[in-house]
Amino acid sequence: MVTYDFSGKSVIVTGAGSGIGLVTAKMFAEAGAAVALADVNEEAVQTAAKEIAAAGGKAVAVKCDVSREEDAEALVKKTADAFGGLDFAYNNAGIHAPVAKTGDAEAKDFQRVLGVNLIGIWNCLKHELRQLEKQGRGGAVVNCSSQSGVVGTAGLGAYTASKHGVIGLTKCAALEYAPLGIRVNAICPGTSDTPMVADAIARAPEHMKALIDTIPVKRLGRAEEIASLVLWLCTPGAGFVVGQAITADGGFCVP
Ligand code: NAI
Repeated sequence: MVTYDFSGKSVIVTGAGSGIGLVTAKMFAEAGAAVALADVNEEAVQTAAKEIAAAGGKAVAVKCDVSREEDAEALVKKTADAFGGLDFAYNNAGIHAPVAKTGDAEAKDFQRVLGVNLIGIWNCLKHELRQLEKQGRGGAVVNCSSQSGVVGTAGLGAYTASKHGVIGLTKCAALEYAPLGIRVNAICPGTSDTPMVADAIARAPEHMKALIDTIPVKRLGRAEEIASLVLWLCTPGAGFVVGQAITADGGFCVP
């Protein structure tokens, strides 16, 4: 994996207790950034923050439910207080809904998924952008969409709507903040080997085998491959990349 130098920079990673968020937080720390690991699962982020500190990195764990705006606001404040400001954020926290045809889906599942995956990103993005604007030294924010932000999948209406919404939100914020040197982009991971997907494999192994067969590289993504895209988007090398939704999906969404 390529490494970057983020010494002296600070970053928020939401959903940092597991999967892609956890790996991204660790890779930022290894590259020298001070990392605020946020998750509803407080124990998971405390353990991860201790591991980062034990390896010589700088980290704080913050209990945060991204679907609550007051939690998102407090997360940004705690991070800025702990590290003397904020440079980057990766808004990664997300959940799945039970697979269901639109006519069979439950309103409570639709609202729960939108509440975390879309309103959760809006909550974090809003307060991160306020902080970055106040500081006046630029910054970069990466929002987690999905291949489901680009294409439709039968049975995944709530998840797909939420991830399409993330891309729309990203484009608007990117246009608003680009003149201030604050770049907002989204990533669209394809099916990747994380606890979220391990659950699905355990529940429906035959379905997953068929799904992997539809991925041109014939394998799941690795969390490190998604994380390295997030890190790159925060480097000066990505300085001209604004408002994009970049897929890392083994070729699944190639038109
Ligand atoms: P994961 O389930 O391994 O980790 C998600 C983390 O988010 C968990 O630690 C969980 O506690 C946390 N979380 C859940 N609700 C939260 C809330 N309300 N507030 C704060 N934290 C919360 O999931 P994974 O696979 O690492 O996914 C991360 C992101 O990547 C999600 O947004 C997901 O939709 C997206 N994604 C994942 C893909 C995959 O195949 N794994 C494919 C495309 C997108």
